Order: sequence, then structure tokens, then C-alpha cells
Amino acid sequence: MLRTIRILAVLLAVLLGGVWAYAWVTRAPGEGLGEAFAARLGQIFGGQMPVPGAGGVQLPQGMALGGAFSLVDQARQPVTEKDYAGRWMLIYFGYSYCPDVCPTELGTMAAALDAMGKAGEAVTPVFITIDPQRDTPAALADYVSRFHPRLQGLTGTPEQIAEVARRYRVYYARAQRPDMTDYLMDHSSFIYLVGPDARVRSLFRPELRPEDIAATIAAQMGVRLGGPVPVGAGGPG
Ligand code: NI
Repeated sequence: MLRTIRILAVLLAVLLGGVWAYAWVTRAPGEGLGEAFAARLGQIFGGQMPVPGAGGVQLPQGMALGGAFSLVDQARQPVTEKDYAGRWMLIYFGYSYCPDVCPTELGTMAAALDAMGKAGEAVTPVFITIDPQRDTPAALADYVSRFHPRLQGLTGTPEQIAEVARRYRVYYARAQRPDMTDYLMDHSSFIYLVGPDARVRSLFRPELRPEDIAATIAAQMGVRLGGPVPVGAGGPG
């Protein structure tokens, strides 16, 4: 994970440095370097959308995350973003063999939805695997049931997974450790709040508290959370 963060930081620095240089060279007479930089970033990431509200991470100006996907759910049914149209989603990308980060973040997602009480029912939690080779629909059905009764597990062909990862700018790569027979996956770890229009509204970095995530989701949805949910209300356990 640390290695992944370091690689990502270097890649980001190189990318932003390149855009800065490009903005320096191509800026119009009288255009400030800062303005030119923001404009070029917008061009590169496509679109001129306003910056979405971000709970924890500010998206660069003009960066549009999310959009169309074509995958298969844990019941082997094909699904696309249209199946979730008009609904809110909380999406996490990971893999079921993950020894640490994925279970923690999926637990956080479930706790955040539970913390929202009744309002949380309007949000569909979704786990998209970046390890389709091992995460078959059957494997995902077993895995997602451990975290939340409504958690959807999505997989697909390697090409379909690569496409959805590209749209959400998810980094993932196979990693083999000499002392292990099974391979691991390096991957970025953010929880995505997706609005009814299939666009990302907020990104949650790892290790946020479920209550803070719940509060940001409620603010984005424009709903007020009630008081604490009474013990024993709704659902088993
Ligand atoms: Ni993981």
C-alpha cells in the first residue's frame, strides 16, 4: 500500500508538472499562469463541469468521474449504470482476497449507511472487483453478504473492469510476493458517492469515520439525519 501511494504521488507530480509546463507555454497573452493551469487541467480531464462537493478530497477543476459501465452482479445478471438510474450509490473498488484495506473500508461503508438510519436506504452500496479472475459472481455473493445485506458485488471481463476503473480513475495492478503463493492486488482505495446522474459527487479517503461519511452523504442528498437509531430498530443484529 505504501509503495502504491509513493508511485501514485510521483505519477501525480509528473502529470501536474507537465500540465504546468504546458500551461506556461500555451497561455494567452495576459492570461495568468494559475488560470491557464486550471484551464489546461480542465481540457485534459474533459468537460467544464463545476467542481463537485468533496468530502475529504477536492476534485481538480473540470474533472468528471464516473459514468457508464457494463458488468455482472453476484446473481450473474448483467448490470449497467442505467439499472441504478435515479438512485444514489456508494461504490468501493477492491478484491475479496484483500487481507486488510478492503474489509475495513467495506465495513466503514456499511457502518456509514447504518448511521444514516432510514435515509440510508436510498443509497445502494456497491463493491466492484478489480480482480475478476478470482472474484466470480459466486465468490462475490459469498463475500458481500458478510458486510451488508444490500451490498451488491459486481464483476466482469478484464476489459469491462478496466473500462469502469478508467472512468473512475482507479489504479490497480497485480503484485506477487515471493513468500506467498496467492497474488495480491495493489489498488487505490477511495469510497465514491455517486449521484442519481451516475456522476461522482464525493470521494472519501481511507480511514474516515463512518459518521463523517454519513453526514457528507446526507448533505449531498439534501436530507436531514434523525437522532441516533434506537437499538434493535430494523434488521437483524
Ligand atoms: Ni484492498
